[in-house]
Amino acid sequence: MSRLVYVLNGPNLNLLGKRQPHIYGHVTLADVEAECRKLAGELKLDLRFHQSNREYEIIDWIHAAREEAGGIVINPAAFTHTSVAILDALNTFEAPVVEVHISNVHKREAFRHHSYVSLRADGVIAGFGTQGYTLALRRVARLIDEKAA
Ligand code: DQA
Repeated sequence: MSRLVYVLNGPNLNLLGKRQPHIYGHVTLADVEAECRKLAGELKLDLRFHQSNREYEIIDWIHAAREEAGGIVINPAAFTHTSVAILDALNTFEAPVVEVHISNVHKREAFRHHSYVSLRADGVIAGFGTQGYTLALRRVARLIDEKAA
């Protein structure tokens, strides 16, 4: 089982730290990546960390993950609520998938309560701020370890 994990981020997350900080906080996506890389070292995971505002790029990274990754952590951002194509791509990936939302989407507008990605995700983390990413990585590492045992 590969110890390579893809961490994928959807639209507008490039503006993390500047965008609606009362909802998403002041931490930037570069800070999140640094935290993830620090933890990955401890967990003996390799990371590919990506962000895109384009749906097809996220789909292409999921296809790349099919070839080499042992897990995916994904914050699909607004595509969570709209993208059958990302769900279909994730359904072609056989290893663990953890969905992350920085905010508690269930406390927000009704349109954020439905997630296409949750139909595939092995677990969902929402409302833990950017800490959700490292929690998700810990879970993926555990699932990889359990499969290897
Ligand atoms: C988000 C929640 C989504 O509803 C929203 O469109 C985002 C970010 C989150 O991390 O809380 O862009 O995925």
